[in-house]
Amino acid sequence: MIDLQHKWDAVYSKADTPTTAAEVLARHQYLLPESGRALDLACGLGGNALFLANCGLQVDAWDISAAGLQILRQAAIDQGLHIATRQCHIGTETLTPQTYDVIVICRFLDRTLCNAIMAALKPGGLLFYQTFTRNKLDQQGPSNPDYLLAHNELLTLFSPLNLVFYQEYAKLGDVRFGNRNEACFIGQK
Ligand SMILES: C[S@@+](CC[C@H](N)C(=O)[O-])C[C@H]1O[C@@H](n2cnc3c(N)ncnc32)[C@H](O)[C@@H]1O
Repeated sequence: MIDLQHKWDAVYSKADTPTTAAEVLARHQYLLPESGRALDLACGLGGNALFLANCGLQVDAWDISAAGLQILRQAAIDQGLHIATRQCHIGTETLTPQTYDVIVICRFLDRTLCNAIMAALKPGGLLFYQTFTRNKLDQQGPSNPDYLLAHNELLTLFSPLNLVFYQEYAKLGDVRFGNRNEACFIGQK
């Protein structure tokens, strides 16, 4: 756990501003409920958490990196928002059933968490998921295939959810356009 934290703290020590929201979330803002509880899981600098809080949701943001969470807390203060940050090693036991109206996961993949993630959604709750695929266009993202999605894998991992949106362009057509490195999924419980 300490090694993982050190690795990400080192990454975020070079950052001073939060990232922006994931494409799958920003492009589908109109699907969000007007109120409710949201979780940005493995939030990093918390671009998604800030986006959700700006949309009026009550937001939890979890990550193992204290450095990332500190930058997020400062950004929340600067924007007059409240985000409940939690430094933790995310595991199945971290998630409590039927808690969230919205869960967002971007660029984090732990297949052992999928059932707990779905259980943590309230009935009708939405999962927004965006992460790298094995069939990506370039070197962006992890190289270890364990952290990369197989073709259509999010559809399989979250098949108990009702499919709302799925996108995986890979190398189809004119690769100058569109997100070629990641799959995007929205499902509803
Ligand atoms: C590639 S970053 C993505 C951050 C953010 N979701 C984004 O899209 O900008 C992956 C994040 O997952 C966190 N992380 C990885 N494994 C974790 C674990 N087991 N528990 C908690 N956080 C973890 C890292 O600290 C890092 O912030």
